[in-house]
Amino acid sequence: MILLKRLKKYFGELKVLDGIDLEIPDGDTVVVLGRSGVGKSVLLKCIVGLLKPTEGEVWVNGVRVDTADWGTLSKLRKKFGYVFQGAALFDWMTVLENVRLPLIESGVPQKEATERAMEALEHVGLKDAYTKYPSELSGGMRKRVGIARAIAVDPEYIFYDEPTSGLDPMTSRMIYDLMQKLDEELDATTVIISHDIVLARRFGHRVIFLEKGKIVYDGPISRASDSPEFIEFLGREFAELID
Ligand SMILES: Nc1ncnc2c1ncn2[C@@H]1O[C@H](COP(=O)(O)OP(=O)(O)O)[C@@H](O)[C@H]1O
Ligand SMILES: [Mg+2]
Repeated sequence: MILLKRLKKYFGELKVLDGIDLEIPDGDTVVVLGRSGVGKSVLLKCIVGLLKPTEGEVWVNGVRVDTADWGTLSKLRKKFGYVFQGAALFDWMTVLENVRLPLIESGVPQKEATERAMEALEHVGLKDAYTKYPSELSGGMRKRVGIARAIAVDPEYIFYDEPTSGLDPMTSRMIYDLMQKLDEELDATTVIISHDIVLARRFGHRVIFLEKGKIVYDGPISRASDSPEFIEFLGREFAELID
């Protein structure tokens, strides 16, 4: 379970997160929506322990992340799969080497790491591209390699930061399909950070809308009309969303 209690994150005068209370039960999938610059990535970094909150508590899997020591945190992070904004692949490594890297780093023997990386690549439909370098791939394929790298570690928690930013609509749809497939096949607790309304509709079971440092809506996308701020963000596309 992920639990945030009165979470605040300030950068000097800038109050990015200003009192976030959130509970995400095991196995659930939530989408965190909000305008660019609202603090979605900061929220995610607080959850995974890359940023220390100014105030409040962050709990993941029963561990208090914001005060955990390095050893506790690195043990917890083995349960995390993180799909970064942009694919963040190493250009000098092949697809296989990129996907295998987190496994090798966490001490999995070479042979097993290779097998598990190939399995993950099969999951994302890129088994045949394992010898290629990132520069030889399209934007969508690079995203899929990033996803394979995240799932190769058999994560209990998957974090996606803007999984479809910079992709054309057709490629985005392919990524949604893949994420949905993985969501059904793996029972990981999943947090998707996005400003993409189409994505929110696909994973609309629970959507959290952030504005001015606070959660102003938390519920199914179908009930978005309960929140005037959320409707304003959704704008004209809202009509399409509810039919
Ligand atoms: N390390 C940092 N130091 C100072 N300000 C930061 C830092 N990281 C993020 N910010 C600021 O916090 C705000 C939210 O950023 P971010 O979470 O990246 O937004 P987004 O919702 O687009 O992901 C922005 O104003 C950004 O400039
Ligand atoms: Mg961001």
